[in-house]
Amino acid sequence: MLKTKKIAVIGAGHIGQAVIGGLLKAKLLSAKNITASRRDPARLDALKKRFAVHVTTDNRKAVKGADVLIIAVKPQGAPALFEEIASIVREDQLIISVMAGVTTQRMSSLLGKPNPIIRAMPNTPALVDAGATPLAKGEHATDADLKIAETIFKAVGIVDIIPESLMDAVTGLSGSGPVYIYMVIEALIDGGVKMGIPRNVARRLAAQTVFGAAKLVIETGKHPAILKDEVTTPGGTAIAAIHMLESKGLRNVLIEAVATAAKRSEELSRPESPET
Ligand SMILES: NC(=O)c1ccc[n+]([C@@H]2O[C@H](COP(=O)([O-])OP(=O)(O)OC[C@H]3O[C@@H](n4cnc5c(N)ncnc54)[C@H](OP(=O)(O)O)[C@@H]3O)[C@@H](O)[C@H]2O)c1
Repeated sequence: MLKTKKIAVIGAGHIGQAVIGGLLKAKLLSAKNITASRRDPARLDALKKRFAVHVTTDNRKAVKGADVLIIAVKPQGAPALFEEIASIVREDQLIISVMAGVTTQRMSSLLGKPNPIIRAMPNTPALVDAGATPLAKGEHATDADLKIAETIFKAVGIVDIIPESLMDAVTGLSGSGPVYIYMVIEALIDGGVKMGIPRNVARRLAAQTVFGAAKLVIETGKHPAILKDEVTTPGGTAIAAIHMLESKGLRNVLIEAVATAAKRSEELSRPESPET
């Protein structure tokens, strides 16, 4: 589906490069069909060496030859970028934006054209092909456009289709989620160190435990509560820890974390916000 398409990644930073790497690794299209842009020429050179894609500091040049534009600059860069490229964007070009908090309606109005627009909210595990990317289509995008975006992001992990109204909610769950888990891993390491385990060993055990537990949830399809019950021996160690975690409100804290991040995402996505 993508083999004949030309893709421009505008703002090829962390997320942009993760997508380029995923596309090439999955052989979804060849390097000669990808153009990456950013402003720093030295970093652009490094990108060319790494992926052998076309590179340019000229966003307009990148836009011109492309069928699909992946916009991966920071949200606050959106108004200037759209002003720069609006006059040469063709109405048949599919725009896929990973920018947090910039709605398809806002992009349409910055562009002044009814282009098909899709929003994606990847997370950083996309860098190791383990991303979770919810996708939402705007008013002018079709299911065929969604299919293209789905193919692109499946190259770096899993994809879910959601209504755009849930974009802030998924930002609070999977977008910011890796951060909560890093904190959990860090705390588990410290717990191990407190009990005398060398830090490097504790780190390997903690990270693999989180990875393994997640893998078991995904691969068995079992509800996490069932998996928990299966390893909780009456009067054993796990139930002692569960009791303590419940008394400290672990689940409540994580529910609140998702809700708080989602609320913050909603605040930041208001056009009048000074941070977007
Ligand atoms: N990181 C995440 O976990 C995550 C998750 C979901 C969504 N996002 C979204 O993804 C986007 C990128 O995030 P990131 O973490 O990849 O940031 P990043 O590494 O800073 O990437 C942004 C890139 O945009 C380039 N850039 C800035 N202005 C530009 C312009 N006018 N023209 C061309 N390139 C320009 C920057 O390079 P130069 O300075 O060289 O121009 C930089 O490489 C953001 O909108 C963010 O909301 C990030």
